[in-house]
This record gives sequence, C-alpha cells and structure tokens, in this order.
Amino acid sequence: MKVLIVGSGGREHAIAWKLSKSPKLTKLYVAPGNAGMEDVAQCVDIAAKDQEGLLKFCKRESVELVVVGPEGPLTEGIVDRFEKEGIKIFGPSRFAAQLEGSKIFSKQMMRKLSIPTAEFEVFESVDPAMDYVAKKGVPIVIKVDGLAGGKGVVVATSKPKAMETIHKDMVKKVFGKAGEKIVIEEALDGEEASVIALTDGTTARLLVSSQDHKRVSEGDKGPNTGGMGAYSPAPVVTEELEKELLEKVFMPIVNEFKNLGHPFKGFLYAGMMINPKTYGFKVLEFNVRLGDPEAQVILPRLENDFLEVILATIEERLSSVDLKWKNENCVCVVLTSEGYPEEYEVGKRIAGLSSVKELPNVHVFHAGTKRQNGGLVTAGGRVLNVVGLGRGIFEALSRTYEAVEKIFFDNMYYRKDIGHKAAKVLR
Ligand code: AMP
Ligand code: GLY
Repeated sequence: MKVLIVGSGGREHAIAWKLSKSPKLTKLYVAPGNAGMEDVAQCVDIAAKDQEGLLKFCKRESVELVVVGPEGPLTEGIVDRFEKEGIKIFGPSRFAAQLEGSKIFSKQMMRKLSIPTAEFEVFESVDPAMDYVAKKGVPIVIKVDGLAGGKGVVVATSKPKAMETIHKDMVKKVFGKAGEKIVIEEALDGEEASVIALTDGTTARLLVSSQDHKRVSEGDKGPNTGGMGAYSPAPVVTEELEKELLEKVFMPIVNEFKNLGHPFKGFLYAGMMINPKTYGFKVLEFNVRLGDPEAQVILPRLENDFLEVILATIEERLSSVDLKWKNENCVCVVLTSEGYPEEYEVGKRIAGLSSVKELPNVHVFHAGTKRQNGGLVTAGGRVLNVVGLGRGIFEALSRTYEAVEKIFFDNMYYRKDIGHKAAKVLR
C-alpha cells in the first residue's frame, strides 16, 4: 500500500518510523517531512496546508492512504476534501476537528455532556471580560477561541497580567481572528496528563497514557513550548481512572458526534488535569490528533501493525482490534536551539547521531533538521527527539540521557529533569 504522511515534526517522524515496519506498506511519502525521515520515507516538497498540491500528488502517484499529523490541515477540512475525491484519509472531518479548532465549541460540548471541566464564560468584547476578571480575581486562565500554535493560553497570576492578556487578544489582536472571542476559566491545581483514544466513530480504544513537559525550563518554569519532553506511562493515570475517562469523557464525545451526524474518526486527545485529593479529574482541552512529543513515547510501545490499526479505524472495524503494548517505559527528551520558544539561531552542524544509532532501545526522531553541504544542520526551535525504552522509568531515563550526551550542536539546550516527577512517584 502506498501511504502519504502530512507534516514535518517529531510526531510525523515517529508515525513514519512505525508505519515503515508494516508488511502491508509498499511506498511511504512524507510531505514536507524533514531530513531525518529520509531513512524510512521519501520526502516530498509540498506544504502541509497545500491541499490542492497534496491532492494532485496523491492522484499522480496513486497514493492509497493519507495520514495527517498536525491540527492545521484537519481544521481546514483536508479530510472532507480528500474523501470527496475518493482517497482514503485518516483523521477527523472539519466539523469534528472544531473540538480543537474552537475552545468555545469544545467547552460548550463539555458543558452539554456534563464532562468535568474548569468553570468558564465566553466573551466577545473587552469590557465584560475585564469586569469578569475583576470579579473573579486571580489566578485565572484566558484562552483565545481559535488555533494559536500553543500560545493562546495564559494562566494569569495577577490582575494586570490578566487585563494585559485580554487587551493583547481582543484589542491588539495578536492572534488575529483566533482571538476575536475568548474563554476565561477557573485556574485548576493538579497534575497534567495526556490521554489519547483512537475512535472509528462508534468504538473507542485508549492508547497508553503519557505526560509532556510544556515549560521550557527545569522544574516546569518559564514560558510554554510545543513540548520539551514526555514519558509514558504517566503514573497519575491509573487503570481505574482510564476506565472512568473512557466512560465519562471519550464515549460521550464519540456518541455525541455520531448523533450529530458527523462521526469522529481518528485520534481524540484529552488534555487532563488530575487532582485525586480534590476534584478527581477535569478536561483542560481536546485535540484531534496525536500529541507532539506524546506520539514519540506512545508509538515505540505499540506492538500492533500501525497501518492495520489505521485502516481498521477508517473502515469502522476498530471493535475487532485489540491494541497491544510493550510493558516498558518510554522517555523522550527534546533537544532545542537555545532561545526557543523565543528567538534562536539555526544552521548549526549536528554531530554524534551515528554513535547513537548503535545504541539498543534508542530512537532519534527529527523535528527541525535539514541537509546542508552533505551534513545535517539545525533548522528549527525543536531540533531532535531522543527516545529511550526501558524496563522501568529509571532504565528508560538513563538510556535516553546517555544517548543525549552523545549528540552535539552549537547552542543545544535540553531539560535535564524529564520524567523526574514520574520517577519520584515510582521510587
Ligand atoms: P490548553 O491549550 O487549553 O491545554 O492550555 C495549555 C496549557 O495551559 C495547559 O497544558 C495547562 O498547562 C495550562 N492550562 C490550561 N487551562 C488551565 C486551567 N484551567 N488551569 C490551570 N492551567 C491551565
Ligand atoms: N504536547 C502537546 C500537544 O501536542 O498539544
């Protein structure tokens, strides 16, 4: 089977690596991909948002299946467009993707279905929003309605910061249309975890749990990033909680979309806040794709043929599939360009990858890399994802960091405390 993956990050490299192992696969393309994926796929120079370009390519090369990594193309309706042309494509429709594309849509659906979530109000103009913050006090969370590349959420710990955020979103319009409406919600105290399900519109299967590290600095300090590392499983997500989430979060969403006449097919990702001592669990947000870097710690644990699992989802026969997982822990440390998520330099030569290739149970998934003059150079904020598997979190951590220490580029930065929270729980 000829398959095209849409996207270019570490998540898409992990997807490509896993799909490349399927006996069903005859040819794998990635658009636009990155330098690291060349080992397992052919990179095609078409942007992820260029639906017409991708469609033309698929027709020309007789691509039989398209797998979409990032949220952008999904919310822009790539699935509807390709299905109309009779091309198999994996991911939710434009309607279903609103669950990530609009915080208001998602919060209102949670309210309707009584899914536990932070108390909230929606605002379309500045004054009522400011009055609400004045009344509620801080800490308080301000979220733009639309997609903002992970930068649209601010947990404000002072009233001036909250007022400044509302001003930035609604008056300065730094996120454009995405910030025309905002959600203001109660700040929750707890531990975050990512719980992702796969659904074919009727059946839902949970993937193994994971937790990412969003903040740039050690001790979870500093600004939010796309993700500095992750680990799986997340000990805070117990088996009991998984059962509860399936029943009280995932199935109500799956049933609701089915009832609305728009079955949800694809990955359904619930960003959770968990606090066993007080409220139990609440959903912070939904995403309609695999997380990045969560995919990098989930897919290496999957034992099934991933291509077969995707086909079963599209063909609505997920009820006949049992997902099997390696009983191992997996850790991912993201190597970034110093300065990320703000300004950083690129074009730095990357060394040491060949010695990492020799290590057992270690994978390197590329994000911002490219080839230059025969060598590999940095080309983004998040550069490489170093992933290690082990029996227990400590073995996984030591394998991962051992590999990290073999890699070098000028201005390389990474967090040295990935997985430490999980390690503390399990000690
Ligand atoms: P979201 O995109 O909604 O997941 O928000 C991004 C990040 O902001 C989350 O991963 C949390 O770290 C934080 N956050 C979002 N909502 C809340 C909340 N209600 N209380 C505390 N932190 C939050
Ligand atoms: N790692 C968080 C996300 O993919 O949204």
